[in-house]
Amino acid sequence: MPVTLTLNGKPATLDADPQMPLLWAIRELAGITGTKFGCGIAACGACTVHLNGAAVRSCVYPVSAAAGTRVTTIEGLGASAGQPEGEHPVQKAWIAVQVPQCGYCQSGMIMAASALLAQKAAPTDADIDAAMTNICRCGTYPRVRQAIHDAARTMADAKGRA
Ligand code: FES
Ligand code: FES
Repeated sequence: MPVTLTLNGKPATLDADPQMPLLWAIRELAGITGTKFGCGIAACGACTVHLNGAAVRSCVYPVSAAAGTRVTTIEGLGASAGQPEGEHPVQKAWIAVQVPQCGYCQSGMIMAASALLAQKAAPTDADIDAAMTNICRCGTYPRVRQAIHDAARTMADAKGRA
């Protein structure tokens, strides 16, 4: 059954079984592969995307429930913040701090972090720990925390200048 939604700012119609996980639809039907499969049971966060701006774990989210929504993946994150591709303040902080190691979990990490900052402009370490339940087998957590604080400062400065 076709599911129509907005995917990275563009209208998309995905011919999917209604129960197909949104992650499958994004990767297999839309061919957008920055979002990763990790556990498949909403435990690791590798598959995190934004649905109407909020972080969701797309491996357990039926594509039919995303009908009519705005879905953003790592490929559309920059544009969703009015920036060029790859240049969302969180992505820039990630590079400056050199967060990734193997990188597999990182698109989900960045999507979770950017959703957190959209809700809470200056999160504390405790806020970050509560929101960032993504699993990273390389152990990038301290740098994730640092990059989120740095991005929060950059975003606050940009707001102050606006
Ligand atoms: S793959 Fe979705 S939470 Fe792990
Ligand atoms: S950077 Fe390797 S799993 Fe997170």
